[in-house]
Amino acid sequence: MRYSPAVLLGVAGVSVAQNAAFQSYPDCKNGLLAKIKVCDVTLSPPERAAALVAALTNEEKLQNIISKSKGAPRIGLPAYNWWGEALHGVAYAPGTQFHFGPGPFNSSTSFPMPVLMAAAFDDELIEKIGEVIGIEGRAWGNAGFSAIDYWTPNVNPFKDPRWGRGSETPGEDILRVKRYAEYMIRGLEGPLEQRRVVATCKHYAGNDFEDWGGHTRHDFDVVVSTQDLAEYYMMPFQQCTRDSKVGSIMCAYNAVNGVPSCASPYLLQTILREHWGWTDHNNYITSDCEAVLDVSLNHKYAKTNAEGTAMCFDAGMDLSCEYEGSSDIPGAWSQGLLKVPTLDRALKRLYEGLVRVGYFDNDHSAYNSISWDAVNQPSAQALALQVAVEGTVLLKNDGALPLKDPKSSNLALIGFWANNGKALSGGYSGTPAFTHTPVYAATQLGLNFTTAWGPVLQDSTAPDNWTTNALAAVSTADTILYFGGLDTTAAGETKDRYSLAWPAAQLTLIKQLSQLKKTLIIIQMGDQLDDTPLLSLPGVNAILWANWPGQDGGPAVFQLLTGQKSPSGRLPVSQYPANYTELVPVTEMALRPSATSPGRTYRWYPNTIFPFGFGLSYTTFSPTIASSFPKTLQIADLTKGCTNKHKDTCPFPSLPVTVKNTGNHTADYVVLAFLKGEYGPKPYPIKTLSSYARVRDLKPGEEKKADLKWNLGDVARHDEMGNTVLYPGRYTVLVDEPTRTEVMFELVGEELVLDIWPQK
Ligand SMILES: *[C@@H]1O[C@H](CO)[C@@H](O)[C@H](O)[C@H]1NC(C)=O
Ligand SMILES: *[C@@H]1O[C@H](CO)[C@@H](O)[C@H](O)[C@H]1NC(C)=O
Ligand SMILES: *[C@@H]1O[C@H](CO)[C@@H](O)[C@H](O)[C@H]1NC(C)=O
Ligand SMILES: *[C@@H]1O[C@H](CO)[C@@H](O)[C@H](O)[C@H]1NC(C)=O
Ligand SMILES: *[C@@H]1O[C@H](CO)[C@@H](O)[C@H](O)[C@H]1NC(C)=O
Repeated sequence: MRYSPAVLLGVAGVSVAQNAAFQSYPDCKNGLLAKIKVCDVTLSPPERAAALVAALTNEEKLQNIISKSKGAPRIGLPAYNWWGEALHGVAYAPGTQFHFGPGPFNSSTSFPMPVLMAAAFDDELIEKIGEVIGIEGRAWGNAGFSAIDYWTPNVNPFKDPRWGRGSETPGEDILRVKRYAEYMIRGLEGPLEQRRVVATCKHYAGNDFEDWGGHTRHDFDVVVSTQDLAEYYMMPFQQCTRDSKVGSIMCAYNAVNGVPSCASPYLLQTILREHWGWTDHNNYITSDCEAVLDVSLNHKYAKTNAEGTAMCFDAGMDLSCEYEGSSDIPGAWSQGLLKVPTLDRALKRLYEGLVRVGYFDNDHSAYNSISWDAVNQPSAQALALQVAVEGTVLLKNDGALPLKDPKSSNLALIGFWANNGKALSGGYSGTPAFTHTPVYAATQLGLNFTTAWGPVLQDSTAPDNWTTNALAAVSTADTILYFGGLDTTAAGETKDRYSLAWPAAQLTLIKQLSQLKKTLIIIQMGDQLDDTPLLSLPGVNAILWANWPGQDGGPAVFQLLTGQKSPSGRLPVSQYPANYTELVPVTEMALRPSATSPGRTYRWYPNTIFPFGFGLSYTTFSPTIASSFPKTLQIADLTKGCTNKHKDTCPFPSLPVTVKNTGNHTADYVVLAFLKGEYGPKPYPIKTLSSYARVRDLKPGEEKKADLKWNLGDVARHDEMGNTVLYPGRYTVLVDEPTRTEVMFELVGEELVLDIWPQK
């Protein structure tokens, strides 16, 4: 699904913001609904949901399995628009609106895009941010400005750098995506027994491009091996459902191995419900928006829309998300394709979700008192700044950073996002209370600077004198801060990329600036581009990647430029050479290298410009692995004493790492632990991230210990059948990227199957 205020403006009858609440809770005290046991807080959630479903007529049932549910006025059930959005803060959606103009609910805390938050490799921080978004989201819901269902997070692994929506995700690595999902969901929802909001993992499964090379997500059939499916594309959803017990899942537009995702009993029933044990209680599956129509229209998997609609509900989808009617529920019903037990199953799941989030609780819910006062709290705003600082990645530095004496320098802030608040947010945004640009930050710091706009796109034909203006602005400067990169949102771009190269017009300007013999720092926003041309220019002194840094992006970048903080972010995605686009189409799903593909992600593709996990600091570190870590482990011993239902979640002995700051700058350090070795099925991955931890505030000369947690699943590999297997063999632990220290251990004994993948 793609949704933005700009898109909405084009849809008749829907406005981006409004001045009145448009959703409401039922009156479970004095209203008609109070007569139905759904309002009885002494009953269990399944009993309450069943009571509501039993009270509905068939006609009413049919009107409440679409995102714009009509409710049932006859019994006091209000209409409810299920479609809320909150990817990196409460955002616009048909079910989530902002008050327009002065007044409560006109702004929400806007965090950086998820890929930058993931670059912080800071799980605790992600949980705190999730909690802020959950609290603000609940305030929105309580006030009638939103559903309390939010269709976030996006956990599709960022497999190909050309994907236009990759920045919505936590990156390309499975462990990274899983932990982001785990902590974000815990933060958003709170405890299972009483949820703050319902979160939704999307898009299940294999959705990782939009519109590329003649295929769109609406008609594409993801052809993928069982091994890649189990190991990569499905793993985030295992985390969401089996382990995090998320409240909802969104099935994707695309088909997987011939079956549209939303009509796939294998995906929705066999794996999700049966294998992962995601129970019927307290959770539902929504379609992506208008995915039901795709089943017949684009996938040609059903003869009619009515038939496709029934197929989806039968397969286990519970809600059809749509703008203005994409399913054919009336047709499916009148033709006898959609049966009452199927309707009841969907409605019970949907309403049990609402019961658990306190929708039918009146003042009994602990969360119902959350109000506008809880929104835009200083503590929330501090987290938005903190995560932008922690996530920003230093890619190159010849010593120019931190700036030596910014107060007595003459700076020039050049480029299209130097003073452009809109460029801070990225996709799926709300309206922040403020946007603090780099120009704002420099002004606050009392720095002496000039500024000029810069080019945006490589194919821009605008009659520009950017160069003239930029050169004039830098004439008095000794230090140039260039704020550029590829802002896909500014390009009005909702599609995937065809090039990974720097926009030509920007490169021309950077080359000119680099010849001026002034300090030149590039602060790159948006997605990764091939930085090779910048790296080969001696006049480019440093490169910082800030993606879409959110409402406090300017101050975050200046904290790093001035050395108030040291950069500590690590790339959650590889930076590929521009010619990668010639080597493999986006539509190729295989991860392992082959005659037709150089391989995907750092696990399989070695020739990156900057690898996954890379990120420089202002100081130097020396990590060491304690010698107490065992050299030999018996596989049979590893599950002894572990009663976990899923053996892959049993703990592996933690990795004790001591980190010393051997430089001159206080800094955080992200300890990344990769595994490599020749065990399990061939080909062997180059390496696999298996654990990580952030060590905070290491002063010069200081040493701190980190105990890296991992479980058997993080050490295992997947065989061709998709089974998770712990293999005997010689393992090498590699710490950091590039590797700073390593240790070997051996697993001995029989291989142990931790999880048997259900075959189709
Ligand atoms: C929101 O409303 C407040 C007044 O309540 C006003 O000061 C502020 O400027 C408004 N913000 C936006 C983004 O409209
Ligand atoms: C170039 O920029 C100057 C200053 O912003 C402006 O006055 C002038 O009209 C521009 N010229 C062209 C050809 O765009
Ligand atoms: C600021 O920069 C201008 C232009 O270079 C210079 O004339 C002025 O002295 C500077 N001011 C300070 C306070 O450094
Ligand atoms: C792709 O570009 C890189 C440098 O950016 C170069 O080393 C490599 O040889 C190129 N590969 C191909 C297949 O052209
Ligand atoms: C730390 O500072 C000292 C003294 O200024 C200097 O000699 C040393 O090279 C610095 N070390 C690093 C790693 O920058």
